[in-house]
Amino acid sequence: MSENEVLYSVDGSIATITINRPQKYNALNTFVVQELRNAMKKAEDDDTIRVIILTGAGEKAFAAGADINEFRDKDSKTVRPLAQAGQDLCTEIESMTKPVIACVNGFALGGGCEIAMACDIRYASTNARFGQPEINLGIIPGFGGTVRLPRLVGLGMAKELVFTGEQIIAEEAKRLGLVNEVFESVERLREETAGLAQDLAKKPGVAIKLAKKSLNAAWVLPVGKNLELEVDLFTEVFDTEDKEEGVDAFLSKRDPDFSHK
Ligand code: COA
Repeated sequence: MSENEVLYSVDGSIATITINRPQKYNALNTFVVQELRNAMKKAEDDDTIRVIILTGAGEKAFAAGADINEFRDKDSKTVRPLAQAGQDLCTEIESMTKPVIACVNGFALGGGCEIAMACDIRYASTNARFGQPEINLGIIPGFGGTVRLPRLVGLGMAKELVFTGEQIIAEEAKRLGLVNEVFESVERLREETAGLAQDLAKKPGVAIKLAKKSLNAAWVLPVGKNLELEVDLFTEVFDTEDKEEGVDAFLSKRDPDFSHK
């Protein structure tokens, strides 16, 4: 364990959180999961941060899953906190009020795929590989994989991926809707992710937060309740300074300058 296993850096209003165990393919041990939770909270609590990028160090892996070394001595009496912490991390990422972009620079397997799925948008390089290989260890996904994967790619495809444990290439992940965009190199991926983050950072922050809330609710609420929620949030956003600025800018034929209030 080293205190540098999760890096946190800020460029303007964009925070980049990097899983930094490249020699272990950024495998997610207990310490890394806790540090990721701390880093996400830090970004959430900082009003100057508008967008978060989550990535892995190096050019091999985003994260090759939970650290398998920690499974050796665990049984049903002792393993629950490990899965619970991973699930909590994913729920916290998904619940952030700011956009979180997964910049998937290599293997995103097991817990790596699961934390990528908890992010709002996934960009990947052509060398990225996605999968839930837990079956090959005699176990099942435990950071929310059986819950989020079917919602993103459909139940039949999720069952095939979880039952076979097979890895899929980035282009296939894009075809399935697991990835938004694929770039030809890790360098290009990082540039394009930074560009998207800068674009999103200029958007009105309250509107982003409320849109995300209604979109996330689409996974859990019945349609009628989700529509009620949307109209409530649509009403709420009309009291923001950003709505005044956005509408005035459009009608005055100028670019808006949002204050995120
Ligand atoms: N947990 C712990 N260590 C891991 C790991 C994981 N999930 N994934 C990779 N590593 C480590 C390897 O043990 C190896 O460490 P070492 O050099 O000290 O032996 C290092 O990362 C590189 O991995 P290696 O297997 O040598 O690289 P590869 O290019 O041959 O294969 C993978 C890469 C990702 C396909 C392979 O490492 C793998 O299958 N990892 C496990 C994936 C998995 O099952 N994840 C779900 C866990 S629930």
